[in-house]
Amino acid sequence: MRIFLDTANVDQIKQAAKLGIISGVTTNPSLMSKEAPADYEAAVKEVCSIIPGPVSAEVLVEEAGAMIEQARRISTWAPNIVVKIPATTTGLEATSVLAKENIKINFTLCFSLNQALLGALAGATYVSPFVGRLDDAGHDGMQLVKDIVDVFKHYQLPTQVIAASIRHPQHCVAAAKAGAHIATVPYKVLMQMIHHPLTDIGVTRFLTDWQGVSR
Ligand code: G3P
Repeated sequence: MRIFLDTANVDQIKQAAKLGIISGVTTNPSLMSKEAPADYEAAVKEVCSIIPGPVSAEVLVEEAGAMIEQARRISTWAPNIVVKIPATTTGLEATSVLAKENIKINFTLCFSLNQALLGALAGATYVSPFVGRLDDAGHDGMQLVKDIVDVFKHYQLPTQVIAASIRHPQHCVAAAKAGAHIATVPYKVLMQMIHHPLTDIGVTRFLTDWQGVSR
């Protein structure tokens, strides 16, 4: 399973990039708004210049024609750009048109297998089931990831599954076990993934023991 960083914060992206394990970034309008960029295009381009892998930037309109037009424009911003399109009727129409133009689409805000299946049939490169938000609503978000992975495998659909709306390290474990191609994780969760108190205790003990004998 590959790891994307789910943030629009440039400092976090730079910090995470140093670890050498981030293969992409996902943003959305809410994450972008937290950074309050003066210029959306410039902000997305900056992220694309830090991480060589796929960077998802979302359309900010709802009507199909406007979505297609905006997605075409966004797709020219960088060679590694992926356009995020919501799993709506207009989003599906836009995805079908854009995928035929070889524009990479991340079909986002997926909350059902049907939405993911339609996104894949429309030619989306990625579908993003939102695990945490489903859990919040009393459903089993990770079961949806498993179902999508199984169905895509069964029908040999090339669309990759991004486990999104990840809230804690256990979500990452479950996403890996479910066979998600990618988990997109907030910076805080990435830090939680590497941290283990027994590792810290072990390192301290090793160094203390070594100091006891070294001259
Ligand atoms: O990857 C989708 C993510 O940005 C949404 O996360 O925590 O707002 O549900 P959350």
